[in-house]
Amino acid sequence: MSLLIRGGKAFLGDRFEQKDILIEDGRIVSVGNSLKGDETVKAAGMLVLPGLIDPHVHLREPGDTYKEDFATGSRAAIVGGFTTVIDMPNNAIPTTTKARLDEKIALAKKKAVCDVLFHFGGTDDNFSEVKKADPASLKLYLGQTTGGLVLRQPFSLEKHLINFPKDRPVVLHACDHAENEDENLKNTYSNLENALGLAAKLGRKVHLAHASTGKEIQIARRYARCTIEVAPHHLFLTTFDIERLGPYAKVYPPLRSEQKQIGLWAALDTVDCIATDHAPHTVEDKERGAAGFPGLETSLSLMLTGCRRGLIDKIWVAQRMTERVADIFNIPGKGKLQAGFIGDVTIVDPRKKWKVDATELETKCKWTPFDGMELTGKVHTVVKGGEILFEKYQLLV
Ligand code: NCD
Ligand code: ZN
Ligand code: ZN
Repeated sequence: MSLLIRGGKAFLGDRFEQKDILIEDGRIVSVGNSLKGDETVKAAGMLVLPGLIDPHVHLREPGDTYKEDFATGSRAAIVGGFTTVIDMPNNAIPTTTKARLDEKIALAKKKAVCDVLFHFGGTDDNFSEVKKADPASLKLYLGQTTGGLVLRQPFSLEKHLINFPKDRPVVLHACDHAENEDENLKNTYSNLENALGLAAKLGRKVHLAHASTGKEIQIARRYARCTIEVAPHHLFLTTFDIERLGPYAKVYPPLRSEQKQIGLWAALDTVDCIATDHAPHTVEDKERGAAGFPGLETSLSLMLTGCRRGLIDKIWVAQRMTERVADIFNIPGKGKLQAGFIGDVTIVDPRKKWKVDATELETKCKWTPFDGMELTGKVHTVVKGGEILFEKYQLLV
């Protein structure tokens, strides 16, 4: 059985062009015109993207499955257009040993409807476990956040940066947890400068998670082997929203002032990718001060709404939610609509207007800071490995 995606505007890396996509045995076999297939998905008027890749999600399993699990989190991913996500290690049961990583891989394989990859957590004393697990990426927390996974010893950072293979990304949570904005920024920038100084001496690859100000991006840009991600919530929410959202506004990095947000938009050109930082917490946990937002089901639509408002270009968005993420995290066969690549395709109606409704979300947490917001652009159909998982705005799995 072959699947033909017909008549859409396909993303070809540097442009959108009307092309058909033919998928056979789970792989793209042809991108061209007037192709023929057994089953057809009509995509006229739609944008056809490679399956989106999110390099930063917290699916919470095992350890915090009352907040999210691989089934609910991966369904949210598919609804949002993501066929691949990379899960973070900071659960109550953290991914800091090989046995835990193996357990996570097995759980995800059984329960997830999208592909789930894993960041491994570095601690002050798990150097031999990192070596044993030999993960594709290593996450280091330089400041406190959910789960309490943080490097406390001054030399742990350097030791991890030395030991971990240089061409695989070490992902940095550089954000400080101080409530006071000036203190928070000062400590965040100093964490980042320190880590990048060490990384530069070693010439190794690093990736900055959730950059939230223009200055943070400028600092990261001084080191050529540092790639940078930004989360949509820092582009669309500010301290102005705290009054409305109360405890639901708490997130790391914290929401910044409008002035800082303008600086973030201005620096966006040099950013490598968009990450949702999907960090679901129950309503009860939010009321008790938990930090983090769900983001899988709103991120692409927010970015497309930004395109609609003329703030950013849709080619820029497509690159930074597909191909660039695959490059940074060395994910083979993903991120391009090209013969030989895996048959992951996200079809989007760029004109579809919709209103975010928290009660309709697939994420277990069932709330969002974007509740009630009017967005333009929505995922219409998602194909993973040649199989249709989402069609006409409905999940089929
Ligand atoms: C994340 C979480 O809840 O796991 N929270 C957040 O505010 N972003 C942790 C993190 O990404 O730092
Ligand atoms: Zn973080
Ligand atoms: Zn996170």
